Amino acid sequence: MLENRRILLIIGGGIAAYKTLDLVRRLRQRGAQVRAILTRAGAEFVTPLSVSSLTGDKVYQDLFDLTEEAEIGHIQLSRDADLLVVAPATADLLAKMAAGLAGDLATTVLMATDKPVMIAPAMNVRMWQHPATRRNVATLLNDGVFCVGPNDGDMACGEYGPGRMAEPLEIVDAIVKHFSDGRITPFPETDEQRSTEKSHPLANPRPLTNQRVLITAGPTHEPIDPVRYIANRSSGKQGFAMARAVAELGAETILVTGPVALADPPGIETIRVETAQEMLHACQSQLPVDVAICVAAVGDWRSRQKAPEKIKKTAGLPPTMSLTENPDILRELSERKNNRPKLVIGFAAETQDVVDQAKKKLKRKGCDWMIANDVSPETGIIGGEENAVHFIVGNIVGNTARYDVENWPRMTKDHVARKLARRIVEHMTSGTITSAPFGRKRGGMNG
Ligand SMILES: Cc1cc2nc3c(=O)[nH]c(=O)nc-3n(C[C@H](O)[C@H](O)[C@H](O)COP(=O)(O)O)c2cc1C
Repeated sequence: MLENRRILLIIGGGIAAYKTLDLVRRLRQRGAQVRAILTRAGAEFVTPLSVSSLTGDKVYQDLFDLTEEAEIGHIQLSRDADLLVVAPATADLLAKMAAGLAGDLATTVLMATDKPVMIAPAMNVRMWQHPATRRNVATLLNDGVFCVGPNDGDMACGEYGPGRMAEPLEIVDAIVKHFSDGRITPFPETDEQRSTEKSHPLANPRPLTNQRVLITAGPTHEPIDPVRYIANRSSGKQGFAMARAVAELGAETILVTGPVALADPPGIETIRVETAQEMLHACQSQLPVDVAICVAAVGDWRSRQKAPEKIKKTAGLPPTMSLTENPDILRELSERKNNRPKLVIGFAAETQDVVDQAKKKLKRKGCDWMIANDVSPETGIIGGEENAVHFIVGNIVGNTARYDVENWPRMTKDHVARKLARRIVEHMTSGTITSAPFGRKRGGMNG
């Protein structure tokens, strides 16, 4: 899976360094060659002997130890890798990377490298939420650094929240995905490879720079009274993955999310709302945008009246509830006369006749692309980590509606997001019209 991939691991001084030992083992099991740099603080948490026993190589620790001719120099160390992984990425390392400091071996190598860099941050919740760390992570993401984690969870310091390093298998998964998506490729060896890679839009690691992308995610909660609400089972995972995927490609990303148990993705402007009406207003306030991706499972209906006090249970007399329709955000964005995004993408969650229903929805809403998925309970998709989607593009040929449908195999929600992000890049950079949306009487996508 990772045969002959050369990974240079930089181990910072955090408690999570012990997990990095397991990471080395997992990477080597999958065929990767792993070299490790241990920071001075990192060596307080794991010993050079443990690290070198697991990598099967010497551990690199001191910049000025690498000056002997027989030794590999710091430039060589960074050049001899396909990917640099910083795990745990301490608050201190993130700050130094963002500032471009090069005061020791780890940071000098990070400054000298021309290879992709992935960080797995790990720190106390308050350190992670500190404005300085937020700024540093945003800077790094903007520089093209890939970020995996951190997760929410119990911390060694006794607190709970975001800041826990991603698990070794999650980091392995992110590395495998990066290589298999072709977004992190080994440095091209030949001129031919170089020119092929450069000519492809995705050869630019930040192809969505200058594009503003709006994403909606999660469910909505429609209040019945001060304590009860109508909701659905959406977890927000697909929408959050979508936001990360376009942000990684350089887009200015705005995520409008309903109530979910997910932390704000680093470096992404996240607006939290509760109801469909609030979500609509939040989306409208962010226009103009270049691309809108409506992943949220917006409640179709809300209670006509929100009771000012908790509705009391009266024996034998259950209350009746009158519903009214919620605004249709996807349709609103698709049919706008002013500030219509150049590309509007909808997600259709269905439980029967998935593709047919999604085609009808595409036509009804007037969006450009529809991503349909089967959310029947037995699929485990709603709330799960994986998705199996149908990618549908609508065209009007003469007077007839035609649909191009691609059935994507089941994959992780991150993978779906990255695949869709690549389609967006291809679409936005090709300058060609790939769909004629139903809701507009215009020439095409970019018209
Ligand atoms: C017991 C202990 C645990 C620590 N855990 C973390 C941590 O999880 N994350 C972090 O950013 N810093 C942590 N620190 C602080 C770093 O070790 C310190 O900022 C150090 O300078 C980091 O150096 P480095 O980034 O060069 O590895 C910890 C310090 C101590 C004493």
